[in-house]
Amino acid sequence: MAKKPYYITTPIYYPSGNPHIGHCYTTAACDTIARFRRMQGYDVIFLTGTDEHGQKIEQKAAEAGVTPKEYVDKIVENFKVLWEKMHISYDRYIRTTDDYHVKSVQKIFRTLYDKGYIYKGEYKGKYCTPCESFWTESQLDENGCCPECHREVVEAKEEAYFMKMAPFADRIEKLLTETDYLQPKTRATELVNNFIKPGLEDLCVSRTSFQWGVPVDFDEGHVVYVWVDALSNYISALGYDNDAYNDFDTYWPADLHMVAKDIMRFHAITWPAILMGLDIPLPKHLAVHGWITFNGQKMSKSLGNVVDPFLLSDRYGADAIRYHILREMALGADSSFSNEVMINRINSDLANGLGNLVSRTVAMVTKYFGGTLPQDRQPGEFDDELIAAAEGLKPRLEELLEKTQLNQMLAEIFTVVSRANKYIDETEPWILGRDEANRARLATVLYNLLETIRMITIPLSAFMPETMPKVWEQIGATAAETSYETSGTFGTLPKTVTVHKGEILFPRIDAEKEIDELNALILAQKPKETSEDSDFTPQPLADEITIEDFAKVDLRIAKVTFCEKVKKSKKLLRLELDDGMGGRQVVSGIAPWYTPEDLIGKKIILVANLKPAKLCGVESCGMICAADMPNGDVKVIFPDQALPVGAKIR
Ligand code: ME8
Ligand code: MG
Repeated sequence: MAKKPYYITTPIYYPSGNPHIGHCYTTAACDTIARFRRMQGYDVIFLTGTDEHGQKIEQKAAEAGVTPKEYVDKIVENFKVLWEKMHISYDRYIRTTDDYHVKSVQKIFRTLYDKGYIYKGEYKGKYCTPCESFWTESQLDENGCCPECHREVVEAKEEAYFMKMAPFADRIEKLLTETDYLQPKTRATELVNNFIKPGLEDLCVSRTSFQWGVPVDFDEGHVVYVWVDALSNYISALGYDNDAYNDFDTYWPADLHMVAKDIMRFHAITWPAILMGLDIPLPKHLAVHGWITFNGQKMSKSLGNVVDPFLLSDRYGADAIRYHILREMALGADSSFSNEVMINRINSDLANGLGNLVSRTVAMVTKYFGGTLPQDRQPGEFDDELIAAAEGLKPRLEELLEKTQLNQMLAEIFTVVSRANKYIDETEPWILGRDEANRARLATVLYNLLETIRMITIPLSAFMPETMPKVWEQIGATAAETSYETSGTFGTLPKTVTVHKGEILFPRIDAEKEIDELNALILAQKPKETSEDSDFTPQPLADEITIEDFAKVDLRIAKVTFCEKVKKSKKLLRLELDDGMGGRQVVSGIAPWYTPEDLIGKKIILVANLKPAKLCGVESCGMICAADMPNGDVKVIFPDQALPVGAKIR
């Protein structure tokens, strides 16, 4: 019988900076599902790749003094190196600069134009360059900035092609609310309320303000909007509208697209609209996960808080990293990354939990039976409970897999790990081992443990593909005894199985020492902030002023006495200041870079005679001085802390 096809995709990532742990999450999650489906007998295509066009890449390349293609080639190489390190078993890697993809995108654009869904008009709007997104006034954040990255947007206007969205609105709403396309479904409400109910606006689908993109082949000067280019990858990679592959009929519609919430809108609205316009069936599922955050913010290259997955996987092994991130993140919610939590988890779940279970069991079979179990058996108390837990795993995992709840799958598996460790405490094999009369009982206990380990490690091999084969070697399980079908059947290993003592699977980490070392390493890897002076291009000098003009600005030393985040704002902090003149409150847009604790007790420079203003409904009397880093970060200016509060700067 022909195998059932299964098609799963990650987003195609921007090669604008090296991959970080956030990219690893989606990729490792998809890899786990791809491996699971292969085990289950599906014929899987697992697609990942890179989204290489757009203004941001063009700018970055210009800054680096290379062509856009040279720029992305280098970073794509790093993505591939990391995916190899992380044991990512992708079947196909698409680059949007690949010829066949470019041809598909051009054809797709023309088809939508010929069908009357794309028309020519003029675009006026707010544009966020880093995110390559146009926003409407009402979508901007409370500071009039990009609702996604909270940086400044610019007024932009250009002749452009648009895609009609109205013809698809009803079908999209139904897709989100009445089908199980979206996982988790709870996100449908926010999409419908924010985008569909207010009336879906036509989508601007071409640009003339830069070159680095797929040219519209019937109108010179226009390049296809990056999102139309990027989303099309999911079908061009199968050979839709190109000759590079011939898999579209077999593998489309996709079984699962997985993305984080930052790009849910494009996959929940834009992508279905494009497919409807092309008259192509819609993908079966879109799984949306949250962000891995670090100090409370989305981890991203531009924020300078990237935890280096190369470094982490070198130190702990790819499997431990995969386990940690997949265990930590619940579909839909954010998960904050912490080295400490990661190390503790490796120690508790992997070293003490699973690793210990395997090494104790194998050691006891070796010690009491010279490595090979005897024939005789004697069932006893606690056996049924353990066997039921092990046998119950397979159907439970299958159910969770359908809902893409990978963290829950790991939770279920590790419940059985704990159950097995408890079984050792309950049955006390070291006491049974003292008396020859208990040989059959002891052999039964150890066999039950080996079987449980076997049944746990089969599904776990999708999550931790490097380590589980080592376990199978230790417990003496052959390939046939680790097939997926046998993972639900207790009693598969031969009665007289032979074990092989092996290396420690997950060495225990000295947490305190490790965290110190890790912090030192991460600090050393951080881009040096001061040496960037020479690369930094200052803004043009402002018009000349007189000393009288300058004297109009009353700058004072003030001390932060209290600070908190402004509710409902991601950007703003409310600071209470001792200004030597009775105190005051200012609001400052520095929350992405400072926590209240960073600031309380510090002296800063205050623009003291600035006209009060309201930010996000909170009164601000003055402003604190700060400057921009080349990477877009903001640094507050901390004056000599010996200066007295109220001192005037001149
Ligand atoms: O958006 N936590 O590319 P991108 C979890 N090219 N996941 C994260 C993450 C984080 N902190 N940061 C990134 C693009 N991701 C487009 C996609 S698809 C047709 C085009 C993951 O490089 C997550 O999967 O910004 C997110 O959706 C994706 O990387 C965005 O990657
Ligand atoms: Mg992004």
